[in-house]
Amino acid sequence: MTPKKRILSGMRPTGPLHLGNLHGALANWVRMQEEYDCFFFIADWHALTSDYEDTSRISGYRRELMLDWLSVGLTPEKSTMFVQSLIKEHAELYLILSMITPVPWLERNPTYKDQIVQLSNKDLSTFGFLGYPVLQAADIIMYKAQGVPVGADQVPHVEITREIARRFNYLYGKVFPEPDAILTPTPKVLGWDRRKMSKSYDNAIYLSESPEDIRKKAARYITDPARMRKSDPGNPDVCNVFDYHKIYSDPDTVEDVDHKCRNALRGCVECKKIMADRLVAYLEPIREKRRYYEENMDRVDEIIATGSDLARQVAEKTMAEVRSVLKI
Ligand code: TRP
Ligand code: SF4
Repeated sequence: MTPKKRILSGMRPTGPLHLGNLHGALANWVRMQEEYDCFFFIADWHALTSDYEDTSRISGYRRELMLDWLSVGLTPEKSTMFVQSLIKEHAELYLILSMITPVPWLERNPTYKDQIVQLSNKDLSTFGFLGYPVLQAADIIMYKAQGVPVGADQVPHVEITREIARRFNYLYGKVFPEPDAILTPTPKVLGWDRRKMSKSYDNAIYLSESPEDIRKKAARYITDPARMRKSDPGNPDVCNVFDYHKIYSDPDTVEDVDHKCRNALRGCVECKKIMADRLVAYLEPIREKRRYYEENMDRVDEIIATGSDLARQVAEKTMAEVRSVLKI
């Protein structure tokens, strides 16, 4: 039997996860657990690169993130889940990689330039923020991951990781594989305002949201803007609520929604209520798992500790190799 391919991915602990995160990343990770040797980690040092001024929420978010992960079905039986800052080897490899990474590679990183503009309320002219992809490269190659499941926005970082790995191998001998980004097509989930779902837009439905709040939020959704009255026929193809039906409702309901919309047989208020019911039902198993872990937070802490011990063993082995080829 050929060994399973190893993949690794991470998230910064910056707040509770929402439907966009679920369909954009997590659902995919959960599936990948069946096929790959998975490493998933909480990038808390990465959270510092932009949030260094106020660090008070990082440790709370870190536990919340693990709770979100466990509640959607990531499990320590199938995946190694850990916290970056508990594996000090990441810092050591980051330092070594920083010695061989040309600054222009980092300066021309599109994500870097973009973020500086986007997050203009923060002073991101730091060494750490410029070096973000070097730390990310250390995270990835530490575990000799071959694949990195990420969104399109992270592809430049995986590309820099490949370049750094290649340079390391060229200078000191082949230690690291060059990882590939794994891009999976995902359904688009927009917020009520039809913008990308995001915590900062205040348009997100969280995985931990109560059924009442989900229903309240669903009622706010913008539908087909051309449909003014219930007696006007609507066009589901331009309606965000219909996109949700396609994810959360069964095929018969989707067809029925489509028909009733086009023929003005049902109003948007009711259509949104049906969608909210389906969404609440879809999230129920997730809420149930969350309740279990919330009542057993010791278990969450234990999962973090055990996963981090496992990851550390791999990291120690890699660093022994690194020190040996570096003759240091
Ligand atoms: N930069 C990633 C993000 O913002 C998080 C991250 C840090 C990561 N290290 C990683 C993702 C290593 C994949 C692999 O989403
Ligand atoms: Fe959208 Fe449903 Fe209204 Fe049609 S009836 S526009 S699908 S919310």
